[in-house]
Amino acid sequence: MIEIREATLEDIPFITTIFRDTITNVNAKDYSEKQIRQWASGASDIDQWKDRIANSYFIVAELNDTIVGFAYLSKGNYFDGLFVHKDFLRRGFGIKLMRIIESQALAEGYEVIKADVSITALPFFEDQYYIVEKKQKKNYKGLAFEIFKVYKEL
Ligand SMILES: CC(C)(COP(=O)(O)OP(=O)(O)OC[C@H]1O[C@@H](n2cnc3c(N)ncnc32)[C@H](O)[C@@H]1OP(=O)(O)O)[C@@H](O)C(=O)NCCC(=O)NCCS
Repeated sequence: MIEIREATLEDIPFITTIFRDTITNVNAKDYSEKQIRQWASGASDIDQWKDRIANSYFIVAELNDTIVGFAYLSKGNYFDGLFVHKDFLRRGFGIKLMRIIESQALAEGYEVIKADVSITALPFFEDQYYIVEKKQKKNYKGLAFEIFKVYKEL
């Protein structure tokens, strides 16, 4: 059974494990070892995860009571994160999470949703009709990452 629900603070250990494992196994093909280490180390910023859960629209996808992915929307229409566990890719979880995030932005009165997406996730976002506004370098913990600014009209 697939269930999508809002995240709670108790979910943080599962969310951070998916974050670290997905980056080190899935995104690793598109970024340097140093970038991957730096990005994945964000899993340990527990205060930041607490803040995201408290202040964003943060949802998790569960399959038989196991969290297999998560997504969050901040500032009303900024699609801030979307991660699916490496062992559960291409099973429709990413799309389900995306649809609910988009519906939330629409329900909050926004006509456009924006995101900064990784090289790895770009084909998925383009497949879902997101348009690339520009390619740029984004600084994360002192390292530059190549990302794509995208948007979609809802
Ligand atoms: C991007 C991501 C969330 C997609 O999750 P997913 O659950 O595998 O996606 P879905 O199963 O819902 O994919 C639905 C469709 O999107 C397209 N798609 C998904 N991943 C794709 C990829 N890597 N390349 C091309 N198309 C892709 C396909 O059309 C797919 O349908 P199909 O499997 O029937 O061909 C997942 O790959 C991920 O977590 N990536 C790493 C983390 C990341 O970079 N996140 C974004 C940064 S914020």
